[in-house]
Amino acid sequence: CVDQEMPTPKEGEALIKIHCAAVCGSDIGAFRGTNGLVSYPRVIGHEFYGIIDAVGEQVSPARIGERVAVDPVVSCGHCYPCSVGRPNVCTQLQVIGVHRDGGFSDYACVPAKNAWRIPEAISDRQATMVEPFTIAANITAQLQPTAQDIALVYGAGPMGLTIIQALKGVYGVKQVIVVDRIAERLQMARENGADLTLDNQPLAEQLAQRQLAPTLVIDAACHPAILQEAILLASPAARIGILGFSGEASTLTQQSITSKEISIFSSRLNSGRFPLVIDWMEKGLIRPEALITHCMPLEQVKEAMEIFANDRKTCCKVLLQLG
Ligand code: NAI
Ligand code: MN
Ligand code: ZN
Repeated sequence: CVDQEMPTPKEGEALIKIHCAAVCGSDIGAFRGTNGLVSYPRVIGHEFYGIIDAVGEQVSPARIGERVAVDPVVSCGHCYPCSVGRPNVCTQLQVIGVHRDGGFSDYACVPAKNAWRIPEAISDRQATMVEPFTIAANITAQLQPTAQDIALVYGAGPMGLTIIQALKGVYGVKQVIVVDRIAERLQMARENGADLTLDNQPLAEQLAQRQLAPTLVIDAACHPAILQEAILLASPAARIGILGFSGEASTLTQQSITSKEISIFSSRLNSGRFPLVIDWMEKGLIRPEALITHCMPLEQVKEAMEIFANDRKTCCKVLLQLG
């Protein structure tokens, strides 16, 4: 808990009166003090929605009162990754809610260009879910799914579910197969559009029986052993996308990759995908409400974190409401 002075927006910044924030797995690590990137005191929370309350110099006062979702990626704008449209891996990267104060608070000051206008058709609750969907938008932008793909998604947690929704709702992928160890999460996967769900005990056999060789694999479970298995199971010419941050080694051979000419992509946060996801929501291509299982006032943040961390069978996204 941080007692904050009311922040004043500096040049180029907007002061956001926060209305709603969502809990993410990385907040749990920050809360418990096991996330090495976070130092205290810090206001965590990088998935949030609010209304512009004040602006600093160089920001149009006409923006006061605007409904906005905040992109947590703050970048320098001129390093190599920034110059090639990859601000999410800026050499000076600062993530709101990690390196700078974030959304589990009444107010936050953020660069005004990180505050994206939310159209009327999108509710406050949906707007809070833009950031998690940008993770799906970023990895799918790299993988370029097509209708003909047979996709295999590892993990039916919040990340897996946003990815399933994007694969089906945005890209119209023919078959989306989802693997997880928790039956209740496989049920959620089906509710979010999965065509086939499998528990991961002998996955290779389950796929072989059905003569399925995935052409697109996304690892949203992120155990270091998965990449090796994904390479083995994938069709020749498949693309694989990874999202994990484990420091443990994955064991791979060149032969397993090169003999099938497999492409491996990785994705971190998002590179300017807020307008894309807002467009998906406006067009009704994705259903953020399907992921929201809990909603409580910010005062209950500790309880929210506990439910999120421990109740993996029924909990997906927890929203925290303010005001
Ligand atoms: P989560 O922990 O709620 O979901 C992971 C799911 O994978 C669980 O349902 C679990 O039962 C399942 N699982 C674990 N091992 C498995 C295995 N071997 N085979 C099949 N299923 C398995 O986590 P959440 O929030 O969905 O995030 C997933 C991962 O994505 C995390 O590791 C997180 O660090 C990472 N992440 C990466 C981001 C990026 O930008 N690269 C952004 C957000 C999350
Ligand atoms: Mn998140
Ligand atoms: Zn940069």
